[in-house]
Amino acid sequence: MKEIRIGLVGAGWMGKAHSSAMLDEQMLFGPDFGVPVFEMVADANEESAKIAQHKIGFKRMTTDWHTLVSDPDIDLVDIATPNAFHYEVAKAALENGKNVYCEKPLSISEAESKELAALAAKKNVINYVGFNNTMNPANAYVRDLVQSGKLGKIMRFVGRYDQDQLLDENLPITWRHINKLAGCGALGDLGSHLLSVSQFIMGDISAVNAMKETIFPKRPKGRDSKEMADVENEDIISLMTRYANGAIGTISASRVATGRKNYLAYEIQGTKGSVVYDLETMGEVQVYFQSDDEADRGFRRVFLNPKHKGYSAFQPAGGISIAYNDMKILEAHELFSALTQGTPYACNFEFGYKIDRTIAAILKSADNGVWTPVE
Ligand SMILES: NC(=O)c1ccc[n+]([C@@H]2O[C@H](COP(=O)([O-])OP(=O)(O)OC[C@H]3O[C@@H](n4cnc5c(N)ncnc54)[C@H](O)[C@@H]3O)[C@@H](O)[C@H]2O)c1
Repeated sequence: MKEIRIGLVGAGWMGKAHSSAMLDEQMLFGPDFGVPVFEMVADANEESAKIAQHKIGFKRMTTDWHTLVSDPDIDLVDIATPNAFHYEVAKAALENGKNVYCEKPLSISEAESKELAALAAKKNVINYVGFNNTMNPANAYVRDLVQSGKLGKIMRFVGRYDQDQLLDENLPITWRHINKLAGCGALGDLGSHLLSVSQFIMGDISAVNAMKETIFPKRPKGRDSKEMADVENEDIISLMTRYANGAIGTISASRVATGRKNYLAYEIQGTKGSVVYDLETMGEVQVYFQSDDEADRGFRRVFLNPKHKGYSAFQPAGGISIAYNDMKILEAHELFSALTQGTPYACNFEFGYKIDRTIAAILKSADNGVWTPVE
């Protein structure tokens, strides 16, 4: 049994999700992969830090993350701040020789992510990015279908990540609307998840041609404020893609997609079969095999079951619902296994840098309207 002393930076939505996933990981997998010790929490908002300390049981709290990243009693720095702070916190943590678990996207620029990936490799510490959709048993199943050749030659990936959380134009401005805090809009927030799934299943995107739109260019400065502030980034991103494996596709993301709640959805078409998946019905994958008798051909529903990677941690029989937080639990398990047993993991900083390179190419293409290679 090895203690993993956690220093959490940012105690908002994801800070809580990470901490609760680490506790659930213990319940499901036991102490052999490490035991989390909630050592210190840092949040710029003192009240949030105090609440996290009280509820999660952190031994210490601070409003200054610099104290946390240099603390000798911390093994893993867990970064769940707005995007812009990922770089400086991760860099300082790596320079202090800490293992780092960072929310997505890794940073707000290709250059910052490149630097972090190189520094992490040099320091030879665990460097994990929270692209939790790659942990979804459904995506692991689809990846197997694609990579085993069961779907034949892959021709096309059509994907969307749509939510309507920001459809109400009276919702006030947040860090997600300001480029120096978020980097970009729907692309970084939602699109990055879809890019991670696409990368995980299909491999590299080689070129993109994108366009973007801001539907609500101004929002109130505060909840009851009459003063307005500029929304600096896109509500919708839409692009065509070319894949290194020869497939083509389209990808889009919207944070103002009327009626859509958490619609990370895609269809992959191969010469021998196709799959359709959407996160709003997380437990089922639609599968079509051209090889079936023509009389029987049609999409059928495959419910997630213990044969699908990760699922059996939660349920002993197929078709029983799993949910968003379960992806975070599997992520915590992969992270702890890497920390204590040296097991490999896909979502390292190099993976995060790849996603940020793709985001940079998409933004460049959206600005100048031409096909842009992903370097
Ligand atoms: N993997 C996912 O599914 C998922 C979902 C939501 C958010 N995210 C990512 O998680 C990160 C956090 O998003 P969130 O929704 O939890 O945000 P949030 O606004 O709920 O929480 C952010 C917290 O960070 C604190 N903070 C801000 N600046 C800070 C600083 N300089 N030092 C310390 N604390 C600071 C805030 O006070 C707040 O408590 C983002 O990078 C976002 O992209 C990922």
